[in-house]
Amino acid sequence: MNDKNEESIESSGCNRRQFFSKLSITLGGVAALIIGFPIVGFLLSPFLRKVPEVWRPVGSVDSFKVGTTVVVKYLDASPLPWAGVTANTAAWLRRDSEDKFIAFSINCTHLGCPVRWLSDAELFMCPCHGGVYYKDGEVAAGPPPKPLPRYPVRVRNGQVEIMASPIPITTI
Ligand code: FES
Repeated sequence: MNDKNEESIESSGCNRRQFFSKLSITLGGVAALIIGFPIVGFLLSPFLRKVPEVWRPVGSVDSFKVGTTVVVKYLDASPLPWAGVTANTAAWLRRDSEDKFIAFSINCTHLGCPVRWLSDAELFMCPCHGGVYYKDGEVAAGPPPKPLPRYPVRVRNGQVEIMASPIPITTI
């Protein structure tokens, strides 16, 4: 084989190598996009998705006695189709007077544990670190940095309705 032929083979081999190198980089990039796009979309979706404000009925006005605080359960504002029972949420509902209702978040403002209502003491108690709230949701004792958040409440057609919204997240 003469020198010219060897040069030609070497140069075409080099081109082939470059071609496959570029092809594998391109295919790798496409594969990374195909795999990465859904992951990035999933991670960003909570920031991009607007949570709708929805009024949820929690019971007839007559079913709540004046001066009492009870737990009410309702459907989340934007339940996912596959959420099942996790789409249910709850709040503490207090009937202060004939026409005044207050809905409190069920989650403690310290680290989010569900608080319990002690009707005899008229206090909300958090079982996790001993946080205590008065019946109006103000902090009475313990580590909670803020009062219990409230949800908007209204009465429509004899039904008490709570505006469903995401669980308030505490930023200490
Ligand atoms: S989570 Fe309620 S006191 Fe800590």
